[in-house]
This record gives sequence, structure tokens and C-alpha cells, in this order.
Amino acid sequence: MHTAAIRKLKLNADYQAMHVRPDALAEPVNLMRKGFLDGFNVTVPHKLAIIKYLDALTPAAKKIGAVNTVYRRGKKVIGDNTDGAGFLASLKHQAGFHPRGKNCVIIGAGGAALGIAHALAASKCKTLTVINRSAANADKICLSVKKAQKMTQVKSIEVRHKISATPAALEALLDTDLVINTTTLGMKGIKWPDLGWVKKLGKKTLIADIVYNPRKTPLLGAAKKQKLRTLEGYGMLLYQGALAFTLFTRRKAPVEVMERALLRSLA
Ligand code: ATR
Repeated sequence: MHTAAIRKLKLNADYQAMHVRPDALAEPVNLMRKGFLDGFNVTVPHKLAIIKYLDALTPAAKKIGAVNTVYRRGKKVIGDNTDGAGFLASLKHQAGFHPRGKNCVIIGAGGAALGIAHALAASKCKTLTVINRSAANADKICLSVKKAQKMTQVKSIEVRHKISATPAALEALLDTDLVINTTTLGMKGIKWPDLGWVKKLGKKTLIADIVYNPRKTPLLGAAKKQKLRTLEGYGMLLYQGALAFTLFTRRKAPVEVMERALLRSLA
């Protein structure tokens, strides 16, 4: 999608994959300092380890404690995290959903959940409930969000077996405006243990999945059966990339062109 955007804007640029071992993480940053690179994205397992090589972090990267985009401003090499803002942009542009004053439920408590939780709280959602199989990880997210945003009420719920068999989880889901799956459940080859809870959701609920392979996940399929609104997972990937593109190039990202390229490659 970056290559498609570069071509569309006729930029003299190139976006390539670089294999970097953990002990060589300083190298891409040095290439930036020498002017050979304008920026790069960082993915697993380097999102935390890259931080010590950078000059500054944006507020989002600081709150999340992880970086997915590195760009330069003047002589400074800056780390940002566009995942949460990317999810928010997808919510707004692809589903017309604005989190302010809304009840939101996040399923899962990994890195993606943390970014999304901060982004939703920063846009002043009313409540944020984190449902996860291990309470400790959900609690960590709640604590981190509480520190950053006092207005949002946050709560964690542990689900050991099935969501449908956990009354506290069902209660939160009954009254929610938005449900987001951030776990790996529904990825090719990974089955949901139970999707019966989708039948209990109110008609106003928007169901979002961040799984994008397959695009039509079992969760989105179950939501469609109930005639609920759904949001596909590729949107977060698209918009985190569009935001990164603008940080690298200082140009408005041609989102439609990027979307077509992304969907072609996912297909
Ligand atoms: P990412 O960084 O992409 O968010 P992650 O950090 O591996 O990925 O987080 C995955 C999340 O999905 C975790 O919250 C994990 O639950 P735990 O915190 O209990 O480990 C959740 N998850 C993964 N596989 C799961 C499964 N089979 N059932 C329920 N939750 C699962």
C-alpha cells in the first residue's frame, strides 16, 4: 500500500522490507541520522526495543510504551504509535462511529488492545470494559488507561472458558455500543470457543474485528446473522499505514489507492 501511494503521488521514494536482527536495531536509526532513510515502520518483536535508540516519543507512543512508526523532524528521530489512531480513523471513516460518550468493550488484552484502549479513552468514550482470559493482562490495560484519562470508567472482566457462560461479561456486552475483538480468535485456523453471546447484543451495537485474514471472520459472520453493523479488520492496518505515510512524506495519504492495493494483496 505504501508503494501504491508513492506511485500515485509520483514521489522519488521507495518502501521496502528490511530484515533486522535484535542486535542490529541501531542500524536503521543510524541510516536515518545519515539521511539515507526518511522513516520506517517497526513490527514484532522490535516495537519496544527500538525506543532506546530514538530521540523522542509522541504522547501516543509514550502512553502505549511501543513504537510502530519512526520518522524525522529536523535532526530528531521520533517514535510514534499509529495503531490506536489508525483504528479510530477506521471507525470514523468506515463505520461513521464516534466514541465520545459511548460504551465500548474490548476483547483481548495484548499490544493492539492497549493502543485501541488509549485511543478510545482519549476520544472520551464513557466506559471501557476489557474482557480477557487472563485478568492480569486486562488489569494492566485498565490501570494504564486510568492514569491517562480520568473521564472514562474502565473495568476488566476475566473470562476463563466462554463469554456466554460469564455473567459479568454478558452484562457489559448487553449495554455496549461497540465490541472490538483484538485476540487472534478467528484468524485462519483459530476457532472461537463460542459465539453465542453475539445473539445477546443490542441492535445498535457495532462489531469490529482487527483480524483481517480472513476478511470475513466468524465473529463478523455471526454479527451479520443478527443484522448488526460490522467493521472489518483491514481498516486499522490501512489507516495506521496512511498515518505513517503522512509522517514519512508530509503528504496527505491517498487512502483509496492504498486501500485498493492492500485489498489486492490480502486477496
Ligand atoms: P497483539 O500484540 O497483536 O495484540 P498479543 O499481545 O499476543 O497480540 O495479544 C493477544 C491477546 O489475545 C491476549 O490478550 C491473549 O490473551 P492473554 O492475555 O490471556 O494471553 C488473547 N488470546 C490469544 N489467544 C487466545 C485464545 N485462544 N483465547 C482467548 N484469548 C486469546
